[in-house]
Amino acid sequence: MIEINGLTKIYKLSAKKKKELKTNKNVKIAVNDLSLVAEDGQITVLLGPNGAGKTTTLRNVSTLLTPTKGYIKVNGHDTVKEAQKVRDSICFLTNEIKLDEHFTVDYLFTFFGRIKNLDDATIEKRKKELFETFDMSDFKDKRIEELSTGMKQKASIVVNLVNDPEVVIFDEPTSGLDIVTARSVLDYLKKLRNEGKTVIVSTHIMSEAEKLADKVAMIIGGRKVIEGTIPEILAKTQTADLEDAFFKLYMENNCSEKGDKDE
Ligand SMILES: Nc1ncnc2c1ncn2[C@@H]1O[C@H](COP(=O)(O)OP(=O)(O)OP(=O)(O)O)[C@@H](O)[C@H]1O
Ligand SMILES: [Mg+2]
Repeated sequence: MIEINGLTKIYKLSAKKKKELKTNKNVKIAVNDLSLVAEDGQITVLLGPNGAGKTTTLRNVSTLLTPTKGYIKVNGHDTVKEAQKVRDSICFLTNEIKLDEHFTVDYLFTFFGRIKNLDDATIEKRKKELFETFDMSDFKDKRIEELSTGMKQKASIVVNLVNDPEVVIFDEPTSGLDIVTARSVLDYLKKLRNEGKTVIVSTHIMSEAEKLADKVAMIIGGRKVIEGTIPEILAKTQTADLEDAFFKLYMENNCSEKGDKDE
């Protein structure tokens, strides 16, 4: 279980970032007082537009970043005070994490399994299962530098899942993937959910949220604007589908610099 309690993350802005964000302010409130629980045996989807704060939230959950305010617990362990315990139980996947180009998928899989202290028999068993699931037999012996974007993404996914983590944190799981591969990733996330794992993913793709989510948290401008099952969200917003609900909430909440004004 993941419990996010009043998470606020404020970035200090470099001169370059200020230019990029077209602001004179010295800080950016990327996530603003966000609370959310992701239950075991459920897929929780963070849904929001570009710059909403999804990646920032997941980086805090995965211990890469420290909250400015608030705290997060993963299976009861605080992500700051007990970071290593949290790291032991999670996998964190983002398309910004790159594998070393020089090695083969097979070799890297074994390498990461050993980093996680798995014995070779367990590593081989996991390898067989995951390479089959993601249809990777054809390119498992190729070096990362020889792979297409989608193949690289698959390689990153399986390497991260080597130790069968209890908590799966996935930032934009289908980014860069074709529809066949994307489907296999979404199916695998559902399988993990059905095994009782905690799965939290981010996306800006409504149809993906509709396919995956046991619970959706919509984030706009760093704030959670609504949370619930899809039927609950449609009922609350009196809309017919998630996209309509999103636009309604977007119009109501879209002061993208709102967080900054509050400061
Ligand atoms: N290192 C950083 N320094 C300063 N500002 C940052 C930094 N990282 C992100 N931001 C800003 O924080 C806000 C939230 O960014 P974040 O990457 O969490 O959004 P996102 O919801 O993941 O967006 P996307 O859908 O584009 O991936 C954005 O305005 C972004 O420009
Ligand atoms: Mg992101």
